[in-house]
Amino acid sequence: MSKDRTSRLPGFYRLPVAERRDLLAHLLGGHASPADLSALDGGIDLATADHMIENVVGTFALPMGLALNFRINGKDVLVPMVVEEASVIAAASNAARMVRAGEGSFAARCDDPIMIAQVQLLDVADPDAAAQRIDDAEDELLARARDTLPRLCDRGGGPVGVEARVLSRPADPDGGMLVVHLHVDCRDAMGANLINTLAESIAARLAELAGPGARPGLRILSNLADRRLVHVSASVAFSALEEADAPGTGRDIACAIASASRFAELDPYRAATHNKGIMNGVDAVLLATGNDWRSIEAGAHAYAASDGSYAPLATWRVEGDHLVGRLVMPMAVGTVGGALQVHAGARLALSILGIESAAELAGVVGAAGLASNLAALRALATDGIQRGHMALHARVVARSVGAEGDLLERVAAEIAAAGDVKPERARKVLARLLAAEADATGDAPHSHVELPSYPEVPK
Ligand code: MEV
Repeated sequence: MSKDRTSRLPGFYRLPVAERRDLLAHLLGGHASPADLSALDGGIDLATADHMIENVVGTFALPMGLALNFRINGKDVLVPMVVEEASVIAAASNAARMVRAGEGSFAARCDDPIMIAQVQLLDVADPDAAAQRIDDAEDELLARARDTLPRLCDRGGGPVGVEARVLSRPADPDGGMLVVHLHVDCRDAMGANLINTLAESIAARLAELAGPGARPGLRILSNLADRRLVHVSASVAFSALEEADAPGTGRDIACAIASASRFAELDPYRAATHNKGIMNGVDAVLLATGNDWRSIEAGAHAYAASDGSYAPLATWRVEGDHLVGRLVMPMAVGTVGGALQVHAGARLALSILGIESAAELAGVVGAAGLASNLAALRALATDGIQRGHMALHARVVARSVGAEGDLLERVAAEIAAAGDVKPERARKVLARLLAAEADATGDAPHSHVELPSYPEVPK
């Protein structure tokens, strides 16, 4: 997306899928050919899949949608999301609209992309002296590491530090054990391969430095990427939290959201669900962009527990006449390498985002997480989440009985308001509205709208 493009697309959800794609192609301008857009239909063929993993028997699709209204660091972005759960995209888009009201924006920044390689050393006779020797050999170790990763160094990244920690001493049941961390700037790569290669290549030298009898154990990255954090904040005017048909002033709603945040800060049972709501947005963007969502999940929850009790990754406070949310979490994402090399759908998702660096992607992922959290807390602190779910489900049911365009909205609104979101009720409402339209125009009811007898839509 170019700088002057908007992510505000009112009515986008009402368009048929083909028209949404046309609009997307238009927004992408010269950046995506029709062939590129065909990546929206799965993104990999069977032969590609067969090269990605083992024992392939097929490919497996999930819906991809666009979250709208996002403005991040003053720039509009359409956010592709891949998710199986209804209402995640609508919720994130609604929250992003609240944030952008009055020229607001998500503010995102991230740390340098530093990943941690871990080398475990076992049977270390004097762990404290060994740790000291390894710290003293930092220059030599960094030079060796640079030799292992010349291309990363050419791109401006590379090893930046060494840290040795004693985990247990010879008299302890685990014997003398050290872990050595090598900190590596991975630039736009997530970095798993670079880091694992480095850990394996440097382990023997580290064991030598650890003294006679010492031997290398595990050599692998740490997913607790706590030197690669993303920091996202959003400030929402009270007025943007109000809804025409819902009770409560903006201040009341802001206070209720801040209180919901405190609940998560005080109770790990609530914090787990609060963080699940954040991961709804985070994982959906990670999936769309071909990133390893398991590694971000692992890092997120380890980070959430790093103070000794499990805590929320985002918190909300009332400040003046605004509700302010802040999210901090590890965000080891890549815009080069990994699945992106082979997955056309993931590459298209990056073009839709219009971003060029892993740092920008980290900001988008964090903003999607904070938006999802805001939407969930707003719903939970006011009417509960079922009203919104019901409204979306009503549209699915209305469409399933053949309602289209404006009629779809009217049928959905009526069955949702009646609390009877079933095909039978939708069919009756649609028939009545069509008959009323026909009376008004003197025409026969629209012949192109069929009223088939579909089975119940599963909830
Ligand atoms: C559901 O997918 C996510 C929520 O449970 C998050 C939350 O409770 O904050 C609604």
